[in-house]
Amino acid sequence: MHHSILPGLFILLSALSSSYAGKVLVVPVDGSHWINMKVLIVELHAKGHNITVVRGSSNLYIEEQSPLYTSITVDTGELDRDFMEKFLPHLLKMQRQDRSFWSEMALADELYRKLSEFNWKVFNMTAAMFENETLMNSLKDAAYDLVLTDPALGGGVLLAHRLGLPLVLNVRWTMFGEAHFDIAPSPLSYIPVTGLQLTDKMTFIQRVKNVLTYIMVLHTGSKYFGSIYQEFSQKYFGPNVDFFSILQNADIWLMRNDFTFEFPRPTMPNIVYMGGFHCKPAKPLPDDLDKFVQSSGEHGVIIMSLGTVFGQLLSEINDEVAAAFAQLPQKVIWRHTGPRPANLGNNTLIMDWLPQNDLLGHPQTKLFVAHGGTNGVQEAIYHGVPIVGIPLTFDQPDNLARMQAKGTAKVVDIATLDRTVFLEALKEVLHNPSYRENMQRLSRVHHDQPVKPLDLAIFWIEFVMRNKGAPHLRTQAYRMSWIETWRPILCFS
Ligand SMILES: *[C@@H]1O[C@H](CO)[C@@H](O)[C@H](O)[C@H]1NC(C)=O
Ligand SMILES: *[C@@H]1O[C@H](CO)[C@@H](O)[C@H](O)[C@H]1NC(C)=O
Ligand SMILES: *[C@@H]1O[C@H](CO)[C@@H](O)[C@H](O)[C@H]1NC(C)=O
Ligand SMILES: *[C@@H]1O[C@H](CO)[C@@H](O)[C@H](O)[C@H]1NC(C)=O
Repeated sequence: MHHSILPGLFILLSALSSSYAGKVLVVPVDGSHWINMKVLIVELHAKGHNITVVRGSSNLYIEEQSPLYTSITVDTGELDRDFMEKFLPHLLKMQRQDRSFWSEMALADELYRKLSEFNWKVFNMTAAMFENETLMNSLKDAAYDLVLTDPALGGGVLLAHRLGLPLVLNVRWTMFGEAHFDIAPSPLSYIPVTGLQLTDKMTFIQRVKNVLTYIMVLHTGSKYFGSIYQEFSQKYFGPNVDFFSILQNADIWLMRNDFTFEFPRPTMPNIVYMGGFHCKPAKPLPDDLDKFVQSSGEHGVIIMSLGTVFGQLLSEINDEVAAAFAQLPQKVIWRHTGPRPANLGNNTLIMDWLPQNDLLGHPQTKLFVAHGGTNGVQEAIYHGVPIVGIPLTFDQPDNLARMQAKGTAKVVDIATLDRTVFLEALKEVLHNPSYRENMQRLSRVHHDQPVKPLDLAIFWIEFVMRNKGAPHLRTQAYRMSWIETWRPILCFS
């Protein structure tokens, strides 16, 4: 029996540990997206690949100096650095005080304008690169094997096309929305569009809403970004070049989710699911934190974190959250920046940064209070910790709606959150065992894979290096020139 397994295992291992040292040009997106990209960079570096990172001078998180990579900094002028800090209180106030259709539209418009400004930064940065002959020549001379980029912004896609290099995407969102919608058939009858918190089981009315929202998202994407990307592509690549085709031409789509997270849906041969690729087994906690966790005894610990970008809520909300925590026998570790909330119980520890992965992996951890960003949800699945969700914005409500539909999370509406509502949600997830059981089941399924998600991602990046792309996996079927004409056809078919 051993004889039949061993050769297969050997081939698998030798394929995974290929010694080809390549050159990778990385065009990342700043903020929480950079955290994802860095996971791939660390692993590529460990495998001996040479990495160059293109960054804008206004980037907040992407370091210029790093032992992992060489960086190229392009002057992008100043960015509105505290946009997120200003945007969140604004959003929360609107949700709590004036949640009308019109105020939501106004807020969405503000957000789209901001996204459009980010995209303009990228156009300006990319144009500055394209027009700098010294730089472009040095990039050509460096003979990279591929471009690795996050297509939430399009700079890397444009640069790869300019340099004629294979393209690997680290993706969940493109500038147009959820990435599957850009390449895979996406029947709207059972694939919910982001924004409505629907599941794969929709009523007739919900399907109608799903279709209408899809059309609106298409329209907005095209109005704010699509047309500008199109103009840019035509200016630099010629009148017949369609940006959307350039994007669709990417060799491999490393998708930051999997089917423990996502509802089952049609996919494509060049989509590689690497959900959970950033998750690791928990390391031991620092001594003082470990003492605090151990002191929770049989009641266990609750972890609360709202992600990289959002350090705090409105103080009125913080006070309610603190008051609810104070009534529990559990210990609480809360990532919170800013003023100390009133009503803080002596069971609650406030930290401005916490080792989230190690805490979630700790056996004493009973519950994760999360905003529902993809990274955090994947970590909760990986470690099998049920969620009380407080979605704030972007894809968070939809991510948490998925978890709620799978019976692994309870979602609380920030608009009506007070100590009673929040405490009830905490108690329900703590005391009703189904949440934990469902999450542990998802976790087991997530771990039961032949190859770890990160190894799979690196395999495919190295595959593209060795084979100079992966054109044999790209479909021809949907490559038409107009976003507006092909996308609806794709989705309604
Ligand atoms: C981009 O460049 C244009 C033209 O140079 C300029 O008007 C615009 O303000 C720039 N946009 C951003 C976001 O930097
Ligand atoms: C062009 O790129 C080179 C190399 O990165 C850089 O030193 C130079 O300042 C750039 N020139 C302009 C005009 O930005
Ligand atoms: C990696 O590539 C860059 C850009 O081509 C080059 O400047 C650098 O010397 C290389 N580093 C190593 C360790 O080979
Ligand atoms: C913490 O607060 C609870 C309730 O207010 C109180 O009973 C308990 O003695 C306090 N514990 C410590 C260590 O201060």
